[in-house]
Amino acid sequence: MTVKDIFESMDYGPAPESASEALGWLADRGGIAGHFINGQWGPLRDDFASNNPATGEKLAGVTKGTADEVALAVAAARKAQPKWAKDGQARARVLYAIARLMQKNARLLAVMETLDNGKPIRESRDIDVPLAIRHFYHHAGFAQLMETEMPNAESLGVCGQIIPWNFPLLMLAWKIAPALAMGNTVVLKPAEYTSLSAMVFCEICTAAGVPPGVVNIVTGDGETGAALVDADVDKIAFTGSTAVGRIIREQTAGSGKALSLELGGKSPYIVFDDADLDSAVEGLVDAIWFNQGQVCCAGSRLLVQEGIADRFYAKLKSRMDGLRIGDPMDKCIDVGAIVDPVQLAEITRMVDTNTSGETYQCAAPDGCFYPPTLITGLAPADTLMQEEIFGPVLVATTFRTPTEAVEIANNTRYGLAASVWTENINLALDIAPKLIAGIVWVNATNLMDAAAGFGGVRESGFGREGGWEGLMGYTRPKGKMAKLTAPTAFTTTDGTPADPLDRTAKLYIGGKQARPDGGYSDPVFNKSGKLLGHASIANRKDLRNAIEAMAAAKGWSKTTGHLRAQILYYIGENLSARSDEFATRINQLTGTKTGTKEVGDAINCLFTWAAWADKHDGAAKGVPIRGVALAMHEPVGNIAVLTDDTRPLMGLIEPLAPALAMGNRITAVASQPFPLAATDFYQVLETSDLPAGVANILTGSHADLAPHMAAHANIDAVWSFSTADVSHVIEAKSTSNLKRTWVNHGTARTWPSSIWRAQSTEVKTIWIPYGE
Ligand code: NAI
Repeated sequence: MTVKDIFESMDYGPAPESASEALGWLADRGGIAGHFINGQWGPLRDDFASNNPATGEKLAGVTKGTADEVALAVAAARKAQPKWAKDGQARARVLYAIARLMQKNARLLAVMETLDNGKPIRESRDIDVPLAIRHFYHHAGFAQLMETEMPNAESLGVCGQIIPWNFPLLMLAWKIAPALAMGNTVVLKPAEYTSLSAMVFCEICTAAGVPPGVVNIVTGDGETGAALVDADVDKIAFTGSTAVGRIIREQTAGSGKALSLELGGKSPYIVFDDADLDSAVEGLVDAIWFNQGQVCCAGSRLLVQEGIADRFYAKLKSRMDGLRIGDPMDKCIDVGAIVDPVQLAEITRMVDTNTSGETYQCAAPDGCFYPPTLITGLAPADTLMQEEIFGPVLVATTFRTPTEAVEIANNTRYGLAASVWTENINLALDIAPKLIAGIVWVNATNLMDAAAGFGGVRESGFGREGGWEGLMGYTRPKGKMAKLTAPTAFTTTDGTPADPLDRTAKLYIGGKQARPDGGYSDPVFNKSGKLLGHASIANRKDLRNAIEAMAAAKGWSKTTGHLRAQILYYIGENLSARSDEFATRINQLTGTKTGTKEVGDAINCLFTWAAWADKHDGAAKGVPIRGVALAMHEPVGNIAVLTDDTRPLMGLIEPLAPALAMGNRITAVASQPFPLAATDFYQVLETSDLPAGVANILTGSHADLAPHMAAHANIDAVWSFSTADVSHVIEAKSTSNLKRTWVNHGTARTWPSSIWRAQSTEVKTIWIPYGE
């Protein structure tokens, strides 16, 4: 080729990165990836192969971890944990040393990652590895600050961590750095396709002075992962498919293990007609062709405003024609290999079975490569608009108005991320809060940082990684849990003839008193057997009515904290005016003299949450770009609560007040043995300006209602403080929409306000770059 030829085509010449160092590194270690337990390698077996997807060649044999090997790793982690948790400064030094050594070995890590995963070396070198390093630096700081800035937090213990193959080293860093910073020890299982960069990481740990047992790696497949979920760990942190997330939710149900799930997505990429179209096209290259589209937050669903659609698609196709697809070790390559032929076959199947719209594809080399693909003209309900393809395939549709854009964007079971492209900041900031997603990028895409929360809502999972909010997933508040004992209702009558007047307390649904659907009620007696009244028995239909009422009251979530504060103060005042009556009622129900104190506590609680209603501020995160990442606190949505039945009034007020203060709608089931204080309370609500449907109160069997609450798709979170044994069923049934759950496993404690606030809100991170 002559210089003239080059000038004519303007093609890039090959710029290959050498694989020899990384291959030599593997050969020196016997060509086998396996366990790193208690600071030692082994056992190492060639149970299955890890291949280079770009060439099909075997890179190494991988050990498939058995349940016994997982148990050994967990035991090592357990033994090492107390000492590791003791000294934050020592942890900071070790994390800092890891970051430094990763920097020193950055090229080896990047090459290993690209060989094993197939991603372009440009990406592993410039994105995966630097971001992983940043995580360790940033979290070294959190380790240092834990003692002084988080004096009430303590580590969870041993964390089991299961990661996918799309960002093997970065996901390892996201999992290990915060866990270690907060004084936990870990057992991490890499994905079966990509175990090799974790091996390099283990050697870095040894060199950095990580004490034996603090970081343990167990290699293997889904069965090894399942054994880790079952092992004696205090938390499971999982990133991967929604299907496996569901299995893990069910498997850990009732175990008391903490759980965070970062799952799939089908993130919208919304382009308004006033957007900088060239930037929006360039953004798409990063949104859907970065890492071959194998990105959980990939901008895989393009929504373009109708008037510019043709022009935009034309620009996009011309940009696609310029994408360079091929050998990932070539520094000029934009799109590399798909991680494994199994994934390639799945992408191919999904695209080939689609019959809608128009498909535009680039050329791709033979082998484990899939061509960048654009499918336009799809309807929002088409399979490819709904299902995660997890490949370089962009699906597109058009919209007319901002309202329609939001509707289509939210028409998904996922809620991970979204991008909004417009030059109008008013429009961008109007749309961002309306999108149901954990992350929103304004005129940007796929921005991530250790200081900013990452994670989703709906079937994209729960929990956040990164930032102060991510640390909550690796700590718990100090303090002991007490065993709960169920109070018994007084059931014997003194024989006094029943009051001929009907004293059946109704349910409170949609701001109205409602008779129970089933028409049944239970008598409620005092200690000496006098009938106090009847309490309705709510069934599934009543619960559904309450859920409909919460949905109709969604305007509450958009009200200002100021307004919510006023209403909570007003509720507090109205309760205060009836203190004596409530105190007497509590004493009658429980047969104790605790009524006056309990009413005082309830009033104080309402005032406390009135105070918080307009003070649970978000944050502007100092991320290393020109711009900010805003951490916004949004309500969770519809919360269903089984209340603490030992305290007839406070059991209701304690969850109700923070839930309402943070803008949620709530359906609470009153204390089962002592229901009548809660039913009296709706008279307070009726006189307190609370909009209908924001708070609904049911009475009846906790055990009967729990599974229906957990399974209902329009409930976003279920809390249980009940003495009934319902924790297991709630967690197991919550897989329907992967709702958040907060259950007590038969124990009780006083939760600090930080926990109530965190449970009542979602953190949405809105990235707003500015300037050039
Ligand atoms: P996967 O969810 O099966 O694998 C992720 C990790 O979980 C791996 O380490 C795997 O060994 C482990 N695992 C599998 N079954 C398990 C079980 N029963 N218990 C515990 N651990 C288990 O994902 P896979 O099969 O690799 O990819 C399938 C699809 O999942 C992709 O096509 C994509 O749609 C989605 N996916 C989404 C990711 C995300 O970040 N959202 C990441 C990877 C895959």
